[in-house]
Amino acid sequence: MSYPIRPISEEQWPQFSGVLAEAFNWTPHPTQSERWKANTEFDRTLAAFDGDLIAGVTGIHSFSMAVPGGALPVAGVTAVSVLPSHRRRGILSQIMRRQLADVRERGEAVAALYASEAIIYGRYGYGRAADNLAVSIPTHRSAFTPAAPSDPSLRVRVVKPAEVRSTLEELFARVMTERPGRYARNEHFWNMSLADEEFDQQGAGSLRGFLVEDSSGARGYALFRVKSAWGENGGPDCELQLRELHATDPAAHALLWRAVLDRDLVTKVTADIPVDDPITQLLADVRQLHSRWGDELWVRLVSVDAALVSRAYSAPVDLVIEVDDDVCPWNAGRWRLTADTGSASCKPTDETPDVSLPVSALGGAYLGAGSLTAQQAAGLLTEHSAGAVRALATAMSWSPAPWAGLVF
Ligand SMILES: CC(C)(COP(=O)(O)OP(=O)(O)OC[C@H]1O[C@@H](n2cnc3c(N)ncnc32)[C@H](O)[C@@H]1OP(=O)(O)O)[C@@H](O)C(=O)NCCC(=O)NCCS
Repeated sequence: MSYPIRPISEEQWPQFSGVLAEAFNWTPHPTQSERWKANTEFDRTLAAFDGDLIAGVTGIHSFSMAVPGGALPVAGVTAVSVLPSHRRRGILSQIMRRQLADVRERGEAVAALYASEAIIYGRYGYGRAADNLAVSIPTHRSAFTPAAPSDPSLRVRVVKPAEVRSTLEELFARVMTERPGRYARNEHFWNMSLADEEFDQQGAGSLRGFLVEDSSGARGYALFRVKSAWGENGGPDCELQLRELHATDPAAHALLWRAVLDRDLVTKVTADIPVDDPITQLLADVRQLHSRWGDELWVRLVSVDAALVSRAYSAPVDLVIEVDDDVCPWNAGRWRLTADTGSASCKPTDETPDVSLPVSALGGAYLGAGSLTAQQAAGLLTEHSAGAVRALATAMSWSPAPWAGLVF
């Protein structure tokens, strides 16, 4: 069955957001719904209609995302939802195909998303492009290695985040492109990041902050909530939930972590971090970093050639890659990728391929995560010329590891 798909108007927001709330088992406070609405690009929404009923929805945030060597416009896919009464009738598949065609027409080479379930998006050509560590660190065992940097010119200041918003925005803009996957936040994303009504707090208290500064200004910030609790023996047992921590340099980064780990009455710090966050090197006893690994960003190359020439490479590469892509057939076929550390070209070719792979494998490697050799070892892609996968993987790898750090 086919469901007409088209963008919604602002007046249809209640029905659109109703699908979202139903699919996600979410009961938003009216203020939260208003914030979502304010951050919705109505011309980039899509709704699948069953008569007058909206049965499935999605949207896109148009933002600039950091990629290896720079940043480019990326379609940030969001709000993917199908009404429980209409699930498993192929509505998501119809929406995804239409959305990818729209993204291509708009000239964005790359789409990215956070997945509610890791099993959903591979079939549409998205690859797992960034990993996340959900960590818990017991504060009483969080000593740093003696080699940890310290800078006596730095000071920690307790701040109310909303009152230093412009400083936070400036700092984030300075560090954004240093890690692939981070994206430029518009005012609505900042509104949501700093939102601090009781329903935003979820029992963990108000949003708190530390700024780290020297005499010339701010060099880092940390935002967090503290869930207050007292243990069975009457002693303090608070959990500090770190929301974000950004710094311009290692000493500021280390001092911010020290400030959250040393906060009185806190017995553990929990956070989502990139797999190579410097805290993984700073702790003297890394076993105290109790962590759960998970997928973070998923990336889809909407136009393989435009995407591959829009990032930098860690090593020269000159290969013919054969791409399998039945959702975006314009990508399917052979491409000669030639790149050195300064520029890249990607042209269609009839030459014999060195590597054959699904488009999702390129999406998974696009931000620099080293997944290609693992996929080869798993038998998920085919090497025709000895060493070709390693050469491609080396060229596409990047440091630091990709990580967006804020769900969109
Ligand atoms: C995820 C969701 C959008 C799927 O919508 P849908 O219209 O039922 O999906 P489709 O019918 O187009 O499914 C296409 C294929 O994906 C599979 N699939 C879809 N969602 C799946 C899921 N959550 N788990 C496993 N398989 C899933 C279907 O079985 C189908 O497989 P097939 O092609 O082999 O038959 C819907 O279940 C939903 O709204 N879930 C709750 C909200 C959510 O998690 N949204 C995603 C946000 S990132």
